[in-house]
Amino acid sequence: MKLWGGRFLGKESRLMEEFNSSLHVDKVLYKQDIRGSIAHLKMLVRQNLLTNEEGERLINGLVSLLKDIEEGKLKIEGIYEDIHSFIEINLVDRVGEVGKKLHTARSRNDQVAVDTKLYAKEKAFEIINDIKDLMDTIKTVADANEALMPGYTHLQAAQVITFKHHIMAYYYMLERDIKRILNAIEIMNESPLGCCALAGTTFEIDREYTALELGFKKPVENFLDGVSDRDYIIELISAFSIIMMHLSRLSEELIIWSSQEFKFVEMDDAYTTGSSIMPQKKNPDAAELIRGKTGRVYGALISILTLMKGLPLAYNKDMQEDKEQFFDAIVTVQKSIIMMKEVIATLKINKGNMLESIKKGFLNATEIADYLVNKGLEFRNAHKISGQIVVYCEKNNKLIEDLNITEFKMFSDLFEMDIYDFIAYDNIISKGIKIKMK
Ligand code: ARG
Repeated sequence: MKLWGGRFLGKESRLMEEFNSSLHVDKVLYKQDIRGSIAHLKMLVRQNLLTNEEGERLINGLVSLLKDIEEGKLKIEGIYEDIHSFIEINLVDRVGEVGKKLHTARSRNDQVAVDTKLYAKEKAFEIINDIKDLMDTIKTVADANEALMPGYTHLQAAQVITFKHHIMAYYYMLERDIKRILNAIEIMNESPLGCCALAGTTFEIDREYTALELGFKKPVENFLDGVSDRDYIIELISAFSIIMMHLSRLSEELIIWSSQEFKFVEMDDAYTTGSSIMPQKKNPDAAELIRGKTGRVYGALISILTLMKGLPLAYNKDMQEDKEQFFDAIVTVQKSIIMMKEVIATLKINKGNMLESIKKGFLNATEIADYLVNKGLEFRNAHKISGQIVVYCEKNNKLIEDLNITEFKMFSDLFEMDIYDFIAYDNIISKGIKIKMK
């Protein structure tokens, strides 16, 4: 079950075999491993390093392995060192001695590097599509909900906005997240296949051909860099961490807005859970879990940064530890994006409660000051008068818009009847948000 052994006299301990095996993690790379091997074989034939007939037998063998794995006839399990060993040993079982030619002019070091890169690229594009779906959902919900809403700073009601304007902020964060992933793909788009262990090979291989065959822009320039570069994993997990940070902020808002104290939104029953003791509870678990899983993705980022920081060139076995964290981060970010999409798509928005909160929060106080400035007063003085009006309203349990004109005039002679239109909530929104929102 091993790809090596010639120079060993003693037997590997069972403990070491288990400790060393990464098959349970890297088995997800089976497709990329076979794809990489097929490109490599085609190149070997083109370069006359294998005969046509040998190439064909090997490629057919790999294709049949792929088919059996996908149909569940061949299970990826057993005491193999990794997915590369599993595929190669099973190929030899199937096609005989010629199978042992597959690894000519290749090392597992460039093999694992190219497999993981192919996988990373594929998943990165999938995640971009998941984000696009979430963005579409946000846009649809936003367009259907132009309702007025209090906007916050310091989590204190600040000024009037619309629910649409608020939720669309996340749309633009996600748009930047896509750009970050695309940028990472652009940077990583070079093939390490053909770097071999660290020093290239004496065989006349064609790295340009395999690079293009596998969809890369070109082969990497430097062999040592090629086999030991894990920057792209770190960069993608950085982008994933930022996505999770955005989703976590949105989750936090959904959790706050779902509370008894706010009641701005209600999450659908499908994405909430109850309490085993308190019958009235409806907990926003989906959002809480996304917020919680954010820490897990940050953990993967720190884990791989730490893994790489002290490694001498080129390949070191430590690097096998990159995959568990990377793959977990991929699954976590994908599930979180999809879950958030469902939550947003089914969210109920409570316009009435948002408007009530606006009124209670004196959210037209800024416009009182603006009104006085329009009438010639200095902003700082206008600000002071508006503050005094708020104190008066609080003391007398009134809303600003409910004061009569005599009350307004107690604070400044500049107030006229046009103040009421000027501070009406619908009007103050139209001056900013709706115009900017197109
Ligand atoms: N399973 C290893 C990894 O994931 C690849 C194999 C490299 N092994 C070696 N002995 N050079 O990194």
